[in-house]
Amino acid sequence: MPEESKRRALEHLIAGNRRWAEGTVREDPAFFQRLVEQQAPKYLWIGCADSRVPANEIVGLRPGELFVHRNVANLVVHTDLNCLSVLQYALDVLRVEHVIVCGHYGCGGIAAADRAAPLGLIDNWLRHIQDVAERRRALLAREPDPARRADRLCELNVLEQAHNVCRTTIAQDAWSRGQPLSVHAWIYRLTDGLVQDLDFTASAAAQSASELTSAIERIEARTRRG
Ligand code: CO
Repeated sequence: MPEESKRRALEHLIAGNRRWAEGTVREDPAFFQRLVEQQAPKYLWIGCADSRVPANEIVGLRPGELFVHRNVANLVVHTDLNCLSVLQYALDVLRVEHVIVCGHYGCGGIAAADRAAPLGLIDNWLRHIQDVAERRRALLAREPDPARRADRLCELNVLEQAHNVCRTTIAQDAWSRGQPLSVHAWIYRLTDGLVQDLDFTASAAAQSASELTSAIERIEARTRRG
């Protein structure tokens, strides 16, 4: 029966899960017991939904150690209740002290936004990236090569999204009650698996705009040198 064969098509995933769970218990018999009792991650990761950027794995963290939100092109949109709810839970309940917005080079969402070829509903989501490109038009114009231009747009987008985290009422409220919170902007390179810090670190509401300006100035200086 066709339904049965569709179900069986995923058998290797269930088998993979069994192997993983058994291996985990073999290595650390109390692992799941500890995990059930407490969720206490120290970091919130806001990253791209891209299957090549598995958040936990690339920073060497295990289940329970990283709170994660992913969407296409790692956007932090001021009216996105999904992202805002994750952020609020992370800061207000889990008391996470570091929010990492991590983009990646070779991001399909960024490339699609830059090409502006119509793809349907997602175009409305990608408009947020086009807004970033429009604001930084002069800088991007210095990169005539489309691949290099897309790389710069990936960097600029991460910085703007980290700044957006800082501008939420959630981050601002955390800072105003004296809660320790730092917001970081990172970018991951698919070709070597390495994360690079874009040197945006905001640990107070007033720092965010100047961190954004100086990080963008560093990108500008790099594009001038060619
Ligand atoms: Co991506």
